[in-house]
Amino acid sequence: MHLLKLDHIAKVYYQGKVATGVLSGITYSFESGHSYAITGVSGTGKSTLMHILAGIDTPSEGEVLYDDKSLQLMNSQEKNNFLNKVVGLVFQEPYLIKELTVVENVMLKGLIIHQPYDEAYKRAVDLLSFVGLADKATHHPLSLSGGQQQRVAILRALFNRPQFLLADEPTGNLDIDNAASIVDLLEKGREWGMGLIISSHDPSVAKRMERQLVLKHGKLVEQ
Ligand SMILES: Nc1ncnc2c1ncn2[C@@H]1O[C@H](COP(=O)(O)OP(=O)(O)OP(=O)(O)O)[C@@H](O)[C@H]1O
Ligand SMILES: [Mg+2]
Repeated sequence: MHLLKLDHIAKVYYQGKVATGVLSGITYSFESGHSYAITGVSGTGKSTLMHILAGIDTPSEGEVLYDDKSLQLMNSQEKNNFLNKVVGLVFQEPYLIKELTVVENVMLKGLIIHQPYDEAYKRAVDLLSFVGLADKATHHPLSLSGGQQQRVAILRALFNRPQFLLADEPTGNLDIDNAASIVDLLEKGREWGMGLIISSHDPSVAKRMERQLVLKHGKLVEQ
């Protein structure tokens, strides 16, 4: 079992001299193999929190700990390992790389950690088959529908079998049927042993997770 812990996390944004406090004194431990929903109205800081958890934004105060090791104290090799193998992040928008094909987008993190190209390619195609998109492998990502792009973004995030799969409002732009199939796919990650953390303002998505957390006035509270 692995732990991803927020320890007294605060985040304040400054624009000139104007400070906006978004997160304040958040302490919570996420365990691999379990699923969590983070809900909260627009602008409460869900994306900010997800980016801090994924190690791509830094808190103003407090620490993120992976198995008791602070991200801030990791050397560059440990931090790369964290970013590429421990967490997989699905952004609020798919952010696929338009210069790469669909299959290259899926295998990207495999190439970053020097997996052999042919092996990574084969696995990426297998994953695309799993979500019914094998025939799109060599297409350009922007020729895909919104739901299809989000599926590709999820495959990219789970390609290196991270211990924690983080998805920031992954169904925000989708209709109900597409949203349900996106959650099915994310749930597969949990069946494969990953911790699953989804931010969403959709209660039907949230209630499918084992634990429900609400972000309100800078605090994260269990429901
Ligand atoms: N780079 C930034 N600089 C200044 N303020 C920011 C920045 N990023 C976010 N904010 C502010 O922080 C607050 C939280 O933003 P965030 O995007 O984390 O909210 P959210 O809960 O994800 O919202 P949504 O549900 O609309 O996606 C907002 O008030 C936003 O304006
Ligand atoms: Mg957001």
